Amino acid sequence: MRLTFIINCILINLLKGNKYKMYVCICNALTSEDVRKLKNIGVCEPSSVYKKLGCAMQCGKCLQSIDEILQEESVQETKEQISFNKKFSSSLRA
Ligand code: FES
Repeated sequence: MRLTFIINCILINLLKGNKYKMYVCICNALTSEDVRKLKNIGVCEPSSVYKKLGCAMQCGKCLQSIDEILQEESVQETKEQISFNKKFSSSLRA
């Protein structure tokens, strides 16, 4: 049953052209992209992810993956941080 669901999810994604989406929560069919979108609007707790997407944690196997995505630093954030640090350090020297 679960294998059929996973295969269907993969096929649906391939048909939609979403080759690089990864399912992080099989029970609720949540993708890494779903979690990143919520992260971008300020969600920082896995429990809030389920709530915002109108579902609830079931088996809990996805909890660590969702938490890792919420904690990961985006490339954009890193660039902004480097830029800020350069400006800050140059203003200290002046
Ligand atoms: S895989 Fe997310 S609750 Fe089961």
